[in-house]
Amino acid sequence: MSRSFAELFDRDPEVRADAPGRVNLIGEHTDYSGGYVLPLAIPQRTRIELARREEPRVRAWSAEVQEAKIEEYRLGEEAPRRDWLDYVQGVTAALRQAGHALRGFDLRVESDVPLGSGLSSSAALEVSLARALREAFELDLDDVKLALIGQRAENDFVGAPVGIMDQMASSLADESTALFLDTKTLQYEKIPLPAAAELVVIDSGISHSHSAGEYRTRRRECEQAAELLGVPMLGDLQTQDLWKLGTLPEPLDRRARHVITENARVRSAVASLRERDLPRLGRLLYAAHESLRDDFEVSIPEIDRLVELASEEPEVYGARMTGGGFGGSIVIVAQKGAGRKVGDRVAARYSEAGKVKATVLVPPGPETVID
Ligand code: GLA
Repeated sequence: MSRSFAELFDRDPEVRADAPGRVNLIGEHTDYSGGYVLPLAIPQRTRIELARREEPRVRAWSAEVQEAKIEEYRLGEEAPRRDWLDYVQGVTAALRQAGHALRGFDLRVESDVPLGSGLSSSAALEVSLARALREAFELDLDDVKLALIGQRAENDFVGAPVGIMDQMASSLADESTALFLDTKTLQYEKIPLPAAAELVVIDSGISHSHSAGEYRTRRRECEQAAELLGVPMLGDLQTQDLWKLGTLPEPLDRRARHVITENARVRSAVASLRERDLPRLGRLLYAAHESLRDDFEVSIPEIDRLVELASEEPEVYGARMTGGGFGGSIVIVAQKGAGRKVGDRVAARYSEAGKVKATVLVPPGPETVID
């Protein structure tokens, strides 16, 4: 049951902030190797209401937790509990470690970014909370530093060894321009989506939440490959270095090949967007999917099936898995105006044949009410 801030804390909120989930167009599993990524924001957002308190205590409530109750902790005494509050505690701990002075606060969280769909509900929470705290306590944080606080919360406190893509996307991206980000330097450029294109995101209904161990393994494999090749990170290699992979043991050779070829695909995708060459962009998405499926091995048959169904639609330029993998969602580039129809048709064919139901998340339909 949803409860208002006033019902929860007996007063009105002082600050409101929000932040979106993200969909990555291309550049998957490159951000912890110093590579390129190209995400956009999605319409679904996490919303925060907050009011300051005199004592260093945090009281927090989330509408997204079943049988939610008000959780509490003292600032400076953050301790992992393996639940949603770890993202909140992680952000306050990271801010303090970065030298920012906080006082206590009351917090209400609400979100329509689906959990486990590979669309960065965690980054949306970290970034929206950090935005609210920036405003409430007048913190000296720009949008990049704010994203880094979110990543630190997740790396150091939640214990997920993620890269910087999701927090940067949530902090800096919007729905109509792709954020072309160099994860090594954090330099970025916004590349508009051509007017003739529309993005579709379909959730496979298979939660990726069990994938933490696999993610860690892939990350370690990339680090091992870089070490054996004598470079700080795989992102330092180009396609002309591909011949060097012959010296690597299996599967490190394929992992490295994915990162190097994916980096090249991101650059080509940026060129395709600039030239409004949607068929070329589409081909790059299919190639990225094959590389993630065969070389990086982070796809699953249900996601492959969704991509295949999408490829059979005449209004589709290209499709691929998006996010960390092992479930979650696919992203499709379709003709403008055809997105909803394409999404509904692909989701229906998938749901008919399989045991799980797919959901079209973007463009949001009448059942996904977003205000
Ligand atoms: C997850 C991580 C990101 C990135 C992607 C894969 O979303 O949070 O940092 O590594 O997987 O591209």
